[in-house]
Amino acid sequence: MRMFDVIKHKRDGLELTDEEIEFFVKGYVAGDIPDYQASALAMAIFYKGMNARETGTLTWQMAISGDTCDLSPIPGIKVDKHSTGGVGDKTSLAVVPIVAAAGCPVAKMSGRGLGHTGGTLDKLESIPGFSVGIEQERFFEIVNSVGCAIIGQTGNLVPADKKLYALRDVTATIDSIPLIASSIMSKKIAAGADAILLDVKCGSGAFMKTDLQAAELAKAMVAIGEEVGRTTVALISDMDRPLGLKIGNSLEVMEACEVLKGMAPEDISATCLELAANMLFLAGRGELALCRKIAKEQVDSGAAFEKLCEMAEAQGGDSSVLRDFSRFPQAACTREVRATQSGYLFSMNTEQVGTSSAALGAGRETIDAGVDFSAGIALAKKTGDYVEEGDLLATLYSSSEARLDEGERILREAITTSERAPVIPPHFYARVDANGVHWLH
Ligand code: URA
Repeated sequence: MRMFDVIKHKRDGLELTDEEIEFFVKGYVAGDIPDYQASALAMAIFYKGMNARETGTLTWQMAISGDTCDLSPIPGIKVDKHSTGGVGDKTSLAVVPIVAAAGCPVAKMSGRGLGHTGGTLDKLESIPGFSVGIEQERFFEIVNSVGCAIIGQTGNLVPADKKLYALRDVTATIDSIPLIASSIMSKKIAAGADAILLDVKCGSGAFMKTDLQAAELAKAMVAIGEEVGRTTVALISDMDRPLGLKIGNSLEVMEACEVLKGMAPEDISATCLELAANMLFLAGRGELALCRKIAKEQVDSGAAFEKLCEMAEAQGGDSSVLRDFSRFPQAACTREVRATQSGYLFSMNTEQVGTSSAALGAGRETIDAGVDFSAGIALAKKTGDYVEEGDLLATLYSSSEARLDEGERILREAITTSERAPVIPPHFYARVDANGVHWLH
């Protein structure tokens, strides 16, 4: 078989055979197929797409391209959660302890931020001492004793995705449904959970800009999960506005604590509770209505907040910062951004808000770069709010005045004001399971 022919078949709109897909994944991981041929194939897939069988085969070949995780030392049904990425998306930090406090174990492997989106590992590492590089045996011990742990990928999990994702990132081939679906699902399948909850983001801060595109991606991922015997549900949630008010690493940990104390803005609280309820549903805790009640009880009783503190301590973190935010390392420079005209905040380009936060130091440009844990944005207003000239829009945190200048410039460009009030999107658009898409509005 020749890689030239595999590329040509996809370029000409043909279906790739299972053997062709296996040949590509194995050859690329082994280093026999060069990046230029892999990027040509990624671009052909971007334009010509893949059907469900091709996407399923690609996912499976990627999932078995390296080590896989066996979670059987942890008793019970293990449910994993994955978000397709967004701005201010700190849901894992709150949802994992809620689910664990309700008695369902969560053994979660998360990723780092890249570009305009943040990553759970960076956020957790903003808790002084918190370690995400824990060996598998200790990982299982923590999940069995505390009920939850969140770590980075251990071992050689899904090397095919590591190579392919880095390649797609620099060849403008990220936003392709079969490539995103296979990238995410291969990692979830290799990570070993029995059931998977997907939070598919939709809007200006997400890869999928419309609810219909998000539904296509969700359907593709649910079909892959069900095909390999993992019950999979996807919620399509809003990312047309940043989630909550805080964007940045330690800022988002603080807001996750507020969710767990019942003191956070409504959008982030409602989103976390619904995600947690769906994880409990997948863990077999009963009907969704009952699971919503169980999730809320964990917050109201304070059990979920205590669970986060316990997890932080077990992973080497100083949980005193979670109880007293002034103990977090503070940013060297701050700036208040104020409205220059009165009117409704009509739209906020959420990807640009994420880019502003990254420019302040909260994000990374390349996978090896570091992040500034205390940098970021605390929004005072969001889309739909009416502001008077001079009102506070946001406070920016960074390490230098030059970074503040850049962050402010990008943030101001992201915001439009109008005399008209905008239509506010719902928190959730749809729930997708093996039976299809159930629109919620
Ligand atoms: N997240 C992933 O893990 N992979 C993608 O392709 C896109 C988002």
